[in-house]
Amino acid sequence: MHGDSSPELFREVFGRFATGVAVITSAGAAGSGGMTANAICSLSLDPLLALVCFENGARTLPIVREAGRFAVNLLAAEQEPLAGVFASKLPEAEKLDGVAHALRDGVPVLDGVLAWATCELNELIAGGDHTIAIGRVLSLGLAEHAGVQPLLWYAGGYRALAPHAGA
Ligand SMILES: Cc1cc2nc3c(=O)[nH]c(=O)nc-3n(C[C@H](O)[C@H](O)[C@H](O)COP(=O)(O)O)c2cc1C
Repeated sequence: MHGDSSPELFREVFGRFATGVAVITSAGAAGSGGMTANAICSLSLDPLLALVCFENGARTLPIVREAGRFAVNLLAAEQEPLAGVFASKLPEAEKLDGVAHALRDGVPVLDGVLAWATCELNELIAGGDHTIAIGRVLSLGLAEHAGVQPLLWYAGGYRALAPHAGA
């Protein structure tokens, strides 16, 4: 057991918190784009609030700030290639090229996602080298097919859900 507090160990420790994978998209006066994110969370039920942590240098952040809106797209297992595209530094304007999506509440909701939420930006809070964006939910949706599986992220790699040993 280590007991240090290095950034490397911090990454490893929180990397053991298995998560889904989201793409945060936005579109507005500052263009359109998106970024892959797993530092997201449901925050409040009354009102319905969600939060997303943006690296301060993420190019999606000024787009969200300008648009005052964003969409949280929760990826399905077969959408790993999309996670790669939106985690890349491809020119922001090209990220949505060829990615099937529809504008809902003015922000891009990707086709084939596990679930999605559109949010109005409520607040931006400084958090070290990241910025916490709090959004008020505008609309929500689920995949049309019940069998859609989630894309997961664990210990620095993409994973798939496995049936529970006791199931
Ligand atoms: C699985 C995964 C999760 C990520 N989670 C976040 C996150 O929560 N917040 C963040 O700012 N960047 C996150 N990133 C990194 C961004 O996707 C990456 O920096 C991206 O290039 C940002 O795009 P942009 O500069 O076009 O906004 C994650 C990357 C991966 C692969």
